[in-house]
Amino acid sequence: MSVIEIEHVDVDFPQKKGKVVKAVSDVTLHVEKGDIYGIVGFSGAGKSTLVRTINLLQKPSAGNIKINNVDFIKDGKQVISNKDLQLERRKIGMIFQNFNLLNETTVLENVAFALKHSKLSDEELEKRSLELLDLVDLKDKADFYPVELSGGQQQRVAIARALANQPDILISDEATSALDPQNTQQILDLLKKLNKELGLTVILITHEMDAVKRIATKVAVMEHGKVIEDGNLRQIFLHPKQELTKKFVGGSLEAISTLESLNLGKLGADEEVYQLVYSIANVTKSIIIELYRQIGVEVSMLYGNVELLNDEAIGTLVVLVKGDQDKQKQAREFLNEQNVTLTRLDEKGNLYD
Ligand SMILES: Nc1ncnc2c1ncn2[C@@H]1O[C@H](COP(=O)(O)OP(=O)(O)OP(=O)(O)O)[C@@H](O)[C@H]1O
Ligand SMILES: [Mg+2]
Repeated sequence: MSVIEIEHVDVDFPQKKGKVVKAVSDVTLHVEKGDIYGIVGFSGAGKSTLVRTINLLQKPSAGNIKINNVDFIKDGKQVISNKDLQLERRKIGMIFQNFNLLNETTVLENVAFALKHSKLSDEELEKRSLELLDLVDLKDKADFYPVELSGGQQQRVAIARALANQPDILISDEATSALDPQNTQQILDLLKKLNKELGLTVILITHEMDAVKRIATKVAVMEHGKVIEDGNLRQIFLHPKQELTKKFVGGSLEAISTLESLNLGKLGADEEVYQLVYSIANVTKSIIIELYRQIGVEVSMLYGNVELLNDEAIGTLVVLVKGDQDKQKQAREFLNEQNVTLTRLDEKGNLYD
């Protein structure tokens, strides 16, 4: 069941002198209940603007938006009353990079604040807020002030607050960007737990592909206001189509820095560097040995890594292959047959343009 249906949505920002910034341009995106939907793209791609249309914090200029089966926007016009919108918005939680906590009040009061519209008694309010803090494992910090907590803990308070009205959807806009790797991991694990245990649908906007790899089930890649590629995580990783997607998934920074420090110098006419990405479970032969045996090319390993893609083991190899043009072509064909995703790199590890 789709919980978010965005169809042909545009967001235009009129500028001076009749100019228009098309921040979002003809985006269609369907999010199913229980998805953890990663949205990636460079700064200015339109990610935040797009997700702000989900709760109409940003009104689109054109298109249709339907959330939890309720029409919000049809043909660019708001069709939900402001009163109903206010109620529907409670089913959509949001967290941000800078936590947005109230620093003059305690952790408990920060969470309770999200329930101020409810008719709960003070006692019930405290009980409910403590339950929410327990959900994010921070019950013992209820009486602390936000500044007394680490960044990761502050983000967990923000998550508890975002969950106060039992939303179906949680939008995370760069929620881990200000955190160190350990806190990032904790927040991602928490989002995954909430997704599993509460059936929460999560929209995960991020610059960091690692976050997406760890928990997302689906991914959309945005560039210049458009979604240029989307699909399930595995498909995007193993068979990226667009150059930008390849950059994101193959932009294995570790591989690039390894190649930089190897300082290969200019490649010879009979040398190619390839990045190979494959599912460990699907590739049973040793592709390096087979390349030598069957094709007769010499293969040197430059970089190797195995990582989990939402629990599936994915191997990444960067290899230097030595052989004439004809052999190189045969090697590429062989690898394609083995379901290995192949990307040509230059001697510094950048994508070959
Ligand atoms: N209120 C606004 N008025 C004018 N232009 C805007 C406004 N909000 C966003 N933009 C422009 O829309 C484009 C998309 O911005 P947006 O913030 O959605 O990008 P983003 O992908 O979230 O970037 P980042 O990764 O830096 O957060 C940018 O060119 C931005 O300058
Ligand atoms: Mg943004």
